[in-house]
Amino acid sequence: MAPSNQVSTLGATPELSSTATAEPSGTTMPAPSTKPSAGKPTSSKKPTQPVEAQVSAECATKKCIALTFDDGPGEQTAKLLDILNSRGAHATFFLLGQNAKRLPDNVKLIANTPGMEIANHSWSHPNLRTRSSQKVKWQLAKTNEVLEQLSGQKVTLHRPPYGSHNKRIDKLVGAQGMSVIMWDVDTLDWKHRNTATNVKKAVSGAKAGNIILMHSIHAPSVAAVPKIVDQLQAKGFTLVTVTELLGPTKPGQTYFNGGGPK
Ligand code: NI
Repeated sequence: MAPSNQVSTLGATPELSSTATAEPSGTTMPAPSTKPSAGKPTSSKKPTQPVEAQVSAECATKKCIALTFDDGPGEQTAKLLDILNSRGAHATFFLLGQNAKRLPDNVKLIANTPGMEIANHSWSHPNLRTRSSQKVKWQLAKTNEVLEQLSGQKVTLHRPPYGSHNKRIDKLVGAQGMSVIMWDVDTLDWKHRNTATNVKKAVSGAKAGNIILMHSIHAPSVAAVPKIVDQLQAKGFTLVTVTELLGPTKPGQTYFNGGGPK
């Protein structure tokens, strides 16, 4: 079926859209020499690949939304998992290899909590477009090695740090069996660090198929999750993982959202 909420503006220039701006990480900034300016795309204005919206069979008939949490695991992980699990909410965790190595038990905790998906966010959060292909390959492969060893799960999703990617990066991601997962709702939680703002940004205007970007490493972000889940569920949404939303994704392909009933 035709995707019901493909975002045409994203299709035009995904890398320049407001949903794909830089996303600094609180604990894992890249080396100063390559640090991108916040909010500014770093190079090419060309779109990477055609945006593909697809939806799983389950979410074609249910109002599904995917909450995604970047930059962990961190000290808030166990608390966040309790909040999600106690409400029957599923979520996807885009983890950094270096944090997984530092907090291996938290990776196992995510893997052992029903309905949680583990995904790749690079090893140390560099802007991949500024790194050699050899370094990008290492960032992806080393992270998957650690994540798969700790979780026992095959990793099939990658989110580029800062949302910064291009055809070269997509190809390298695809070569390691992963698709590129962006987002269509940005809570900007890393920036404002305000719980009420997080709730408002995640819940107001929520649509079936949304992929919502948050960060698991900031206390105000985690503190917003009970209200976000409760309010989305009250509106009839089912909280799913990215793979549950989209179904199996194609390696190297970029996704911003799924579809679903209006
Ligand atoms: Ni990040």
